[in-house]
Amino acid sequence: MSDNPFRMSSPQQPTKQPRDLRKVQPQAPQAVDMKLQLRMKRVKYKIAILSGKGGVGKSFVSSNLAMAIAASGRKVGIVDVDFHGPSVPKMLGVRGQYLTADDNGINPVTGPFNIKVVSIDFLLPKDDTPVVWRGAIKHTAIRQFLGDVNWGELDYLFIDMPPGTGDEALSIAQLIPNLTGMVIVTIPSEVSTLAVKRSINFAKTVNAKIIGVVENMSHFVCPDSGKTYFIFGEGRGKKMADEMGVPLLGQVPLDPIIAKANDMGEPFFVKYPESPTSKEFMSIAQKIINNVEVN
Ligand SMILES: Nc1ncnc2c1ncn2[C@@H]1O[C@H](COP(=O)(O)OP(=O)(O)O)[C@@H](O)[C@H]1O
Ligand SMILES: [Mg+2]
Repeated sequence: MSDNPFRMSSPQQPTKQPRDLRKVQPQAPQAVDMKLQLRMKRVKYKIAILSGKGGVGKSFVSSNLAMAIAASGRKVGIVDVDFHGPSVPKMLGVRGQYLTADDNGINPVTGPFNIKVVSIDFLLPKDDTPVVWRGAIKHTAIRQFLGDVNWGELDYLFIDMPPGTGDEALSIAQLIPNLTGMVIVTIPSEVSTLAVKRSINFAKTVNAKIIGVVENMSHFVCPDSGKTYFIFGEGRGKKMADEMGVPLLGQVPLDPIIAKANDMGEPFFVKYPESPTSKEFMSIAQKIINNVEVN
């Protein structure tokens, strides 16, 4: 894979026809930055979803939160900046689609509830193609994902982050100075709560508001007995949130149906709208709406 996979349209090649993004040329960074500010001005609330470690369900939470908020009638976009493990397209059921470009920039893929989706996954030639990029290249890619995409007018833009507080998190903090806030995802194990404390401290370091914490895989309801089991420990998310002085937005159960839907590329919130999990996402979405739209 080359250093710049976006190869944006050059001014010499004006056309109204959407075209394959992989066949056009890059633009100068300065031009992209100006566009980035203009594009981001048209997005009311920009929320990054992060976690201290991988595999805690960040992408699952980002995708389902995006669907829950979009289901309320708001205009939503989601940008997947996990270049090494892009999973948003699969979780929204839009894997295998392609980004196109026209004179206005990159056209996002449209997902459930008209969610606009951008991910490196749409640009990879094969399922198992690795993305081998250093931080500087990822910064350029994030800049283009934000600044070169026809996001249009949006109420919410969710940013699905890779695990940890590395280059990508810094790039987001730097490129979106007026970020509305961050939502932190954790699971109730000691390692994860330690990791989440690091994320909270990172958010404080870059002066980002912490909207709250979502505890994923918080409990398991046995389908046979209806009994609830706290597999990773009970009450840890709440304890950690209290200790850190941040709100606990919700607790999403560990459920094999979730894992299966994600593995099969089915959007969980669409497929199981009446499930306790989807209802929990609606409750979390409402808390976020109350937090950002009222304040
Ligand atoms: N609440 C849950 N119950 C069951 N499986 C889950 C749950 N949340 C996430 N998963 C599964 O765990 C894996 C990691 O989730 P993912 O959202 O990709 O994590 P991250 O983005 O933090 O790396 C995926 O296979 C996903 O389907
Ligand atoms: Mg992820």
